[in-house]
Amino acid sequence: MVMTERTRKKTRPAATRPRRKPAARTVVDNSLQQLQAEIDQKVVQLTESNRQLKRKIFDLYTIFEISRNFNAVLKFQTLLDSFIFTCLGQVGASRGAVFLRRDATTDKLHLVMAKGSGSIPAENIGIDPQSRLLTYLAGLNRPVPVGDLISDACTPEELTILGDFQSGLAVPLIYQTRLIGLLLLADKISGRQYTMDDIEFLSILANQIAVAIENARLYEGEKMAAMQLRNLQEQLLQSERLAALGEMSAKIAHEVNNPLGIIKNYLLLVRRTAEEKPEAIKHVAVVEQEIDRIAGIVRQLLDVHRPRPPIFSRVNLTLVIGEVLALMERPLSSNSIEVRTVFAENLPDVLGEPDNLKQVFLNLVINARDAMPDGGSLTIATTFDEDWVRTTLCDTGPGISPEIQPRIFDPFFTTKEPGQGTGLGLSVCYGIIKYHNGSISFRNTEQGGCFEILLPTVKKGVERDAGN
Ligand SMILES: Nc1ncnc2c1ncn2[C@@H]1O[C@H](COP(=O)(O)OP(=O)(O)OP(=O)(O)O)[C@@H](O)[C@H]1O
Ligand SMILES: [Mg+2]
Repeated sequence: MVMTERTRKKTRPAATRPRRKPAARTVVDNSLQQLQAEIDQKVVQLTESNRQLKRKIFDLYTIFEISRNFNAVLKFQTLLDSFIFTCLGQVGASRGAVFLRRDATTDKLHLVMAKGSGSIPAENIGIDPQSRLLTYLAGLNRPVPVGDLISDACTPEELTILGDFQSGLAVPLIYQTRLIGLLLLADKISGRQYTMDDIEFLSILANQIAVAIENARLYEGEKMAAMQLRNLQEQLLQSERLAALGEMSAKIAHEVNNPLGIIKNYLLLVRRTAEEKPEAIKHVAVVEQEIDRIAGIVRQLLDVHRPRPPIFSRVNLTLVIGEVLALMERPLSSNSIEVRTVFAENLPDVLGEPDNLKQVFLNLVINARDAMPDGGSLTIATTFDEDWVRTTLCDTGPGISPEIQPRIFDPFFTTKEPGQGTGLGLSVCYGIIKYHNGSISFRNTEQGGCFEILLPTVKKGVERDAGN
């Protein structure tokens, strides 16, 4: 018989088999159980750290992607929009609001954007970045539960704003070491608490957005400065060009004026000698009429460029405009044009030549009438501050296309049919307003065309003269 290990074991006499003591077996079993429990616990811990690691990688990847996008977005509103959406989406907040300085001139932080459901703080409440609360938040430089911040030390404005986010988080937006804004998040949609992961995520994101906000601000500031510079250069060019044109026109007008006077005198003589000949008298009348027309143009040209020093007196623009409207009442109503006036009360006087200012408003009202052959409305409004009186004349006509806008103040620029306009009206207005140290500009509005005239108040005029 071939003996196998099994049979050998079976056949081993009982006396030779090693006997395990029951107490020792229990000790081993317990150790094994303990080991198993430790292993199980380690597995749970590892699974949890694995989950956390995965979430961290996911968050970091998201942050990386988002900050890449943030840095590419230079438009402020788009940037804020995507920031709030990301925060709400990523941590599951029900509502979010961002507070920033509205522009470089304001110190306080105001609501600039809010998303989500529920009540949103009023836009006009400002919070001071130097306040105790915000200085504290800036020092911490990490998200804090809003509930922990509400205290007696808060200003009433802060309490109003924080009150809407009581169970949420306050996330300071810090650029370098400066607090440039604040993000407030309301509670989570799920009703759960914010986790450490959420706080870490928001903290990193807040740093990224702060840099992106400053970048976008710098970019927009530069864009604005470049635009202002371009506008100034254009204005300078235009006023130099108009000054040169005005000067030339005035010289021509002056030269034309003398022979015109001589022609007119001689024509009187011709009229006298031709008294017996009705046909000749008729021809003389036509010549006289045309001479008067030329004289009118010459007068206007001389107004564009003022060779003599102006004689100013105090002028009440409300009265001046009223006189112009009285004069134009019939032509306007017969063209079905309704006039609305919104005159400021106690409008300060300006220093000027009343007749010439009247001519400015007359030209503008005539232009408005011509721009609305089928009727419409003309709104004339005055407003003022300490230094300037502003008058706007807005019509419901077609406006002026951007291509020709730069030329409308040029002498002889007209889009009217020959014989309908000389193209001198606006250049006369420009010349008159210029020597009143004011400005005249045009812009299209949704309703039509709008001229705006700024004239210095008497106070400003006197101050300037005293400075000279
Ligand atoms: N309110 C307006 N709406 C639309 N276009 C306007 C308006 N005012 C002026 N314009 C445009 O500007 C051009 C120049 O105006 P300007 O008053 O200098 O000359 P004009 O009215 O054509 O002729 P004039 O005033 O010498 O009789 C006009 O021909 C017209 O094309
Ligand atoms: Mg005109």
